[in-house]
Amino acid sequence: MEFEFRRMNGADPVEVLSIAERDILIPTLFDPDLQPAPTMLSDRIQSLGKMRDEDFADVAVDSSGHVVGFHLIRKDIFFGRAVGNVSTLWVDPAHRRKGVAKNLKLRAERWGREQGLYCIYTHTFVQNEPMVDLNKKLGFEIISYRLQKKL
Ligand SMILES: CC(C)(COP(=O)(O)OP(=O)(O)OC[C@H]1O[C@@H](n2cnc3c(N)ncnc32)[C@H](O)[C@@H]1OP(=O)(O)O)[C@@H](O)C(=O)NCCC(=O)NCCS
Repeated sequence: MEFEFRRMNGADPVEVLSIAERDILIPTLFDPDLQPAPTMLSDRIQSLGKMRDEDFADVAVDSSGHVVGFHLIRKDIFFGRAVGNVSTLWVDPAHRRKGVAKNLKLRAERWGREQGLYCIYTHTFVQNEPMVDLNKKLGFEIISYRLQKKL
């Protein structure tokens, strides 16, 4: 594959900025009413720079060293069991449909098994068919609905 997959380097400010800039825009793709608040970029840079060791932050990098995909899973405890909660997953538009997201998810699954996680939870917008398809292909099942009423 033309990409390298590795853990995010939270100590590299250039890498962290390049991820944070794209990361805060993902929800806006699905809800135009959501716009990044002024402090969101700096907050995200700070939180990515201070990742807990038990969380999983993985990147796909192209041959020039640019991050083209990102996957972040936070380890939580639910009913006394360790679980993974997917916080974000995205791939640059120029590199989609090349298996990058699939590989990021399979790497996360291996990590989760090594960690002895009970399961990995993920959620997405209802109109995000690519994400739903990808998850179902990899064995994820729909187990709940998240409802919203805008006020
Ligand atoms: C969803 C997303 C991460 C997929 O990344 P990707 O690297 O293109 O996905 P992959 O190439 O690994 O695709 C694997 C499978 O997912 C499904 N899939 C991916 N993109 C799809 C699309 N546009 N339409 C339908 N199915 C799609 C297919 O089943 C695909 O397998 P195939 O290519 O053999 O048919 C990417 O489209 C993205 O970044 N979207 C915007 C951000 C986003 O929605 N993030 C999730 C927020 S919850």
